[in-house]
Amino acid sequence: MSLGRVLLVEGIHPDAKRNLESEGYEVELLPKALGESELIEAAKGAIALGIRSKTRVTPRVIEALPELCVVGAFCIGTNQIALDHANACGIPVFNAPFASTRSVAEMIIAEIIILARQLGDRNRDVHRGVWSKSAAGSYEIRGKTLGIVGYGHIGRQVGVLAEAMGMKVIFYDIAPRLPMGNNRPVESLEALLEQSDFVTLHVPETPQTKNMIGAKEIARMRPGSYLLNASRGTVVDIEALAEAIRSKHLAGAAVDVYPEEPEATGDGFVSPLQNLPNVFLTPHIGGSTVEAQVAIGREVSQALLSFLKTGNTLGAVNFPQVELQRRPGTHRITHVHQNIPGVLRDVNRIVSEVGANVVAQVLGTDAGIGYLIFDFEGDSSAPPIISERLARLETTIRVRRLP
Ligand code: NAI
Repeated sequence: MSLGRVLLVEGIHPDAKRNLESEGYEVELLPKALGESELIEAAKGAIALGIRSKTRVTPRVIEALPELCVVGAFCIGTNQIALDHANACGIPVFNAPFASTRSVAEMIIAEIIILARQLGDRNRDVHRGVWSKSAAGSYEIRGKTLGIVGYGHIGRQVGVLAEAMGMKVIFYDIAPRLPMGNNRPVESLEALLEQSDFVTLHVPETPQTKNMIGAKEIARMRPGSYLLNASRGTVVDIEALAEAIRSKHLAGAAVDVYPEEPEATGDGFVSPLQNLPNVFLTPHIGGSTVEAQVAIGREVSQALLSFLKTGNTLGAVNFPQVELQRRPGTHRITHVHQNIPGVLRDVNRIVSEVGANVVAQVLGTDAGIGYLIFDFEGDSSAPPIISERLARLETTIRVRRLP
């Protein structure tokens, strides 16, 4: 018997479908993104929905699908989903923030060499029939200093790989980070900019990182150094970067992300960085590899399964993080409620009225909701009565009785 219907759209990797099916769910996989009304129609009765970046999960979609209890974004970004609305309706959203870490790091290593040897420009020359053989302005990367801004998942991978290529690696992060290998932290962004031959950015998009590399910061970089950005387009003032290339203060740049990016493959694109020497431009493909797609399919389907089977929300982007190991022979109920005083008292009263004994209980809250997982012992007629009474509480948003 099927444990429930799952709809996956946008050609999510088939491993995700296989993974969910092997655990007893009935999965439909559609190749394309769906508009709002089509999505509502196709997802009728689904308990879980998997999308990528092009399908919008609006408040209307959420309202129209009362059985839906979890959404998986098989990508990194989640701004195509009405996260706050999903939270208020008791629906956690999971994504795959780290599945493409290695792919981005490998691209950065390639680009450091591409810039040091001006390989982008030489490749273009030869395609045009120009034979421009020269050693001028071409360098080995061995012994050069790489400065990593943002020493998180990607930054650390880049640090490890760069060191293996013989580079000296320094990094700057706002949070204390354990250095990998011989990577060395520096005390400020300014110190990093002044000491690096290559600066690579791996920070998230936040108010603090908006234009964190502008004319002033670029002026601090060493003459003849290089800037790489595969983080977010808003992190670099692109006009200031173009000017630094034109003035030859910087010897090159590799850019994968832009303040404004086209919606779809095939759309036109214009940037002040186009047609500048030794500026290597890519269309936001840092994480676009077959391996990353497979990893995304695996990670998000695992997160969906974990939530469906255990109610655990660790890693959800819009929900209190709650995890509880299940003891054999117990019954589990999960309860999403308004975050106001007195709810636990009501829940515990209902459980004791029914004569069940709570053996474990975990609560997580955010500004709007509370999320409770509780396990109890007692006879098997108790769980349906408890969940039915919980559903009647005014403060209840959603109750699930887990198999
Ligand atoms: P992460 O969250 O693991 O690491 C980010 C690091 O930046 C953290 O250590 C954090 O403390 C640090 N940080 C935050 N604000 C900072 C500041 N103002 N100054 C210095 N450090 C700061 O993130 P992860 O996975 O390493 O990703 C980094 C970036 O790469 C993100 O912007 C992400 O969106 C982007 N990305 C781009 C891809 C592409 O296709 N080009 C693919 C995947 C991620």
